[in-house]
Amino acid sequence: MIIMNLLAWQVRCRQEQTFQFSPAEWKNIHKRLFKGVFPHAGEYRNYNITKKEWVLNGETVLYASADSIRDTLDYDFGQEKEFSYEGLSASDAVKHIAKFTSGIWQIHPFYEGNTRSTAVFIIKYLKTFGFQVNNEIFAENSWYFRNSLVRANYNDLGKGFSATTIYLERFFENLLMGEQNELRNRYIHVDYKEQSAIQSATEDNSKCNNCTLEELAILKELQKNPSITQKELAIIIGRSERTIKTRTVEMQEKGLIRRENGKRNGRWEVLIEI
Ligand SMILES: Nc1ncnc2c1ncn2[C@@H]1O[C@H](COP(=O)(O)OP(=O)(O)OP(=O)(O)O)[C@@H](O)[C@H]1O
Ligand SMILES: [Mg+2]
Repeated sequence: MIIMNLLAWQVRCRQEQTFQFSPAEWKNIHKRLFKGVFPHAGEYRNYNITKKEWVLNGETVLYASADSIRDTLDYDFGQEKEFSYEGLSASDAVKHIAKFTSGIWQIHPFYEGNTRSTAVFIIKYLKTFGFQVNNEIFAENSWYFRNSLVRANYNDLGKGFSATTIYLERFFENLLMGEQNELRNRYIHVDYKEQSAIQSATEDNSKCNNCTLEELAILKELQKNPSITQKELAIIIGRSERTIKTRTVEMQEKGLIRRENGKRNGRWEVLIEI
């Protein structure tokens, strides 16, 4: 039923080509998507909500209180209306879109169906910028999209988690920039630990296609800390100092890195984009 509504909606939009950037438009989208599915389609909720999230080990995001929905919506939409995308790089535009999307999603104005109606609203909004987007990537990655929105709105500073839009940005990079980030839910889980520098290097979208994983991990560490010692590198990468020495010599020969200013007080320079 919902998929049918989504499909029907897309067809209708193509015919009508209408869109107004406003909370009323979002409300209307919700109404049209969920008419006959939820009793309160197109109506704001009048009680406070919590939702247990797998990605947070059962904790909830703090959603806007029912009596602040209208004001917070007006505020977020007002801010976005004022914002100019002119001259922004694609990646900065993606960052901003991610921020705006996570902001309006956090309001959660409806009883149910907030994530789906956010997706449809954002698709329509992105179209006004000339992007050719449809619901496909949203539907395929619906759980990832939701989980990334959760992480963009959840702080538990005591446990060391602060809200981050990086997961949502990866989603939008795929959608808008044709990137191929791996959109895996387990990476978003609050308990997910990067098991090693090598593993985390594989998860990054690297431009060094011919590098080995070991080389990639070394490149990342050298970029983070150009004056790192081979001993320190060996510990972080989990290889012997001898291996690190061999690798860094090979990598210099391959033109991936360069050593500046001699052996003692030197610095590493990474020569490729990673
Ligand atoms: N863009 C989408 N297109 C099609 N199906 C979707 C889309 N987004 C979510 N779904 C599906 O809708 C169902 C409900 O999703 P979910 O509960 O995460 O979001 P929601 O109900 O829209 O928002 P919320 O529960 O936060 O109000 C899931 O089965 C999910 O796979
Ligand atoms: Mg739901």
